[in-house]
Order: sequence, then structure tokens, then C-alpha cells
Amino acid sequence: MRQTNELRITLDINNMMTERLGAGHGIAAGEIDRLAAQARAAQHAVAKNRGNDNLMLGWTELPYNQTEIVRDIEVAAAYVRGTFDAFVVLGIGGSALGPIAVQAALNHLRWNELEQRNGPKFYVEDNIDPERVASLLDVIDVTKTCFNVITKSGATAETMSQYLIISGLLKKKIGEGWQKHIIATTDKENGNLVRICKEEGFRMFVIPDGVGGRFSELSPVGLLPAAVCGIDIRALLKGAAAMDARCKTDDVWKNPALMEAVLQYITMENHGANIQVVMPYADSLKYMADWFCQLWAESLGKNITRKGVSVNYGQTPAKALGVTDQHSQLQLYTEGPFDKVITFLKVENFRNEVPIPHGCESFPNVAFLGGKTLNQLLDAELKGTEFALCQAGRMNQTIVLPEVSAYTVGQLLYFFEMATAYMGELLDINAFNQPGVENSKVASFAVLGNTNERKYADKAKEMREQPAPDARYIL
Ligand code: PA5
Repeated sequence: MRQTNELRITLDINNMMTERLGAGHGIAAGEIDRLAAQARAAQHAVAKNRGNDNLMLGWTELPYNQTEIVRDIEVAAAYVRGTFDAFVVLGIGGSALGPIAVQAALNHLRWNELEQRNGPKFYVEDNIDPERVASLLDVIDVTKTCFNVITKSGATAETMSQYLIISGLLKKKIGEGWQKHIIATTDKENGNLVRICKEEGFRMFVIPDGVGGRFSELSPVGLLPAAVCGIDIRALLKGAAAMDARCKTDDVWKNPALMEAVLQYITMENHGANIQVVMPYADSLKYMADWFCQLWAESLGKNITRKGVSVNYGQTPAKALGVTDQHSQLQLYTEGPFDKVITFLKVENFRNEVPIPHGCESFPNVAFLGGKTLNQLLDAELKGTEFALCQAGRMNQTIVLPEVSAYTVGQLLYFFEMATAYMGELLDINAFNQPGVENSKVASFAVLGNTNERKYADKAKEMREQPAPDARYIL
């Protein structure tokens, strides 16, 4: 068994630096040093407010304060595993992307198609496309399915409409006892779902105070679905705690999450790199990039500082997959505008090794592949891509996972969460709200004719007052 210190994930920033990229490109160590005091202040601010629910920093304590909850989750998960054929998460945004990312990272890549599966089939329904919902109902038997309705606010229209559809179906098909097919994960007192829960008697898990949607993967939001799929949730939390321990120093050169925030701050402010592409070289981490994109975008895309100064900050996160996107995006990354940083996710030891057999001996450029492994080829392609980007003067960095396991994934999740919190401090913005999402929500309720609150009627009026569509602009 490998020791936990051998399973530390690392952040290699060599390819961000001028030494590798040449003068005129990349970051000089001095630039980082000049930000050391600001970085220290950012670390101190997060440390001082750790666990403060009012400041939405409750998530920082999730690796430590859930002993009883973990036990309850394991009991509930064992019941689900022994009772149901399928487990469906109904949720969106922070209530969906973490469960998808962790399941994809830690279980078989074709889990639902496996005959010998260590748990029920797993689906996360994070959209309301009618064709998608209908297609789910074509492949599951609701009488043998457990639905985990996850919503922190207990009010999200997408999730609650899914709940209405599913509960209606369960009532029709099962009748008495249909409530046993639903587990709710929501706030302990706010929102509609907790009230519905009390009325119907659903099993319920609480999303603790101070834990916002996109910071909730290590709460019951992510832990229950993971445990249902047989993932070692204690190792996930231990990994997060191990990363937390490394992120407690105020020395930017020793704190990987602080370094990530400082580097991205410098790339944005000094080098015009307003895009960060996260590019895993592992299919298992493909959805980790989706989870990261929400975390970074919704937390850091803000129009004002905490003092109310207008700023319109935000580094656009993007996702790509190695090697697939070498044949799609890499041309742009190497020769397009100097507006990106590429963050690779590299895995040192894959769970499988696939040898490439010898053959095609009369075609030397094919034959040379024989005798190697797909693992070697993937690694060589990552090295080649890193090198090509450096030669083109493009900043890139690599997060190295010794393996993809619950322990390393826990580290990775916490690393990105902490980097986001530090970045919020450096930018002096509130990283834990999302006011920019509200307007579209109110507008869509207004379209649907919701008259329960004045704001919807006002919004409907504003929408009517928009200039009418001009036929010239519709082609
Ligand atoms: O990070 C967030 O707060 C959001 O992305 C939410 O997770 C998303 O809007 C879903 O909200 P809720 O969990 O309240 O249904």
C-alpha cells in the first residue's frame, strides 16, 4: 500500500515562468514575490474567517465536522444499494456537477453498462430538456429507482419541476410508500423542499449553513451519491484535510492553492490571460473540468468589489480534454491570442495499462508504436503538448495526481475550492454569491406568468418594454 505522502497531488508551475517561456512571456519569480504581502493577507483573511457561516466559509470545515453525518450517509447508502436498481440525482449547478465529477473520476468509466457493478445505475439529471427527461424515463423503472432531490435553496425551478414529475409518477405507479423512493438533500429550514420533506416524511440530509452550492461537494450533496456508488467517502474527506493542511501557510511558495490564486491573478492583471483552460489528460477527470468551470466562473465573475467599486472581474474558465482536444483546440492555444493559461491535469499511474501490440512492420511510423503502451503514448503526448506550448511562449501548468483515488480527488477538490477563496480575496470580491444569475431566473418566471411575487410582474413589464424584434435582424 502506498503511503499518503506519496499520494500528494502537486502543482508544477515551471511552464508558467519566464525561465521556460523566454523573456516577454510568462511570469518572473519577482512578480510573485511582489505579491507576497497581498497573498499573505488573502491567506490570513480566509484563515480568520474559517467556518464562518455568515461569510459562506462553512465549507472549509467539511473535512472535519461530519463524523456522524458520514455514518448516517453510509447507512442510507447501504440501504439504497441493497434496494434499488438505479439512483438518480435531480439537481443542477453545484447540486449536480460535483456528484458527476466524483463518480466519473472514481468509478468505472462505463459504470451503467457494467454487468458486475458495485452499486445501482447512476444518473445525474441536471437539465430540463424534455427529450432528456423522457429518455431517462425510457431506461429506468421508477418502481426500482431511488431519487435524490438536491437543492440548497429548495426553490430551484428546474429541480422542483423534476420533483413534481417524478413524485407524480411514483404516486401513480407505486401508491402507498412512494416516499421511500425519495431522499432529499437541502437546507435545514429554508426553502420549499424542507417543508415538502416534513409533509411527506422523506429521508433527508442537510446541506450545512455556510456551504454554497458550488462548494458543497464534500457535504451530503456529494457524499451520498458517492457512497451509493461504493466510493470511499472517508478517504475523500481525508484527502481534502491533507490539502487543507498544505494550504494553511501564508508563504505563497509553500501553499499550492495560494500559488494558484496568485499566478492566475498575475496572468489576468499583468499578462491579459483572461481565460484558464483546464485540460485533463485522463477521461476520468473530464468532468472535474466542468465542476471547476462552475466554481471559478460563478465565484469570480463579479461586477463590483466588496467596497462597491465597479470592476467586472473574472477569468473565463474553459475545458478541454487531452488528447482529444489536441486535434481540436491546440492550434488555437499555440498560435492564437496570448489570452490563455492552460492547466493540465496529469495522472501518473492509471488503473489500467493497455499494451500496443506489434504489427504493420513494413510501415515504420506505425510499427514504432508496437511494444509501447497507451499509457506511454498519452504521457508522451502530454509532454509534447507542454513543450510545444512553451516553445510558442504560452503559459501552462500541470497538476499531477499520482493516481486517481478518493484520497487524491479529495485533495483536488479542496485545492480548487481554496484557490477560489484566495482569488476572491486578492480581487476583493464576494466569491460566494451569484447575483448575476438572479435576473434571468426572475425573467423566466415572469415569462411563465408567475404572479406570486411583485418582482415577476415588474420584470414582465420590463420585458414588454424591450424594443420589438426587428424583422431585418432575423435571417
Ligand atoms: O453554486 C451555486 O450556488 C449554484 O450554482 C447552485 O448550486 C445552483 O443554482 C442550484 O441551486 P440549488 O442547490 O439551490 O438548487
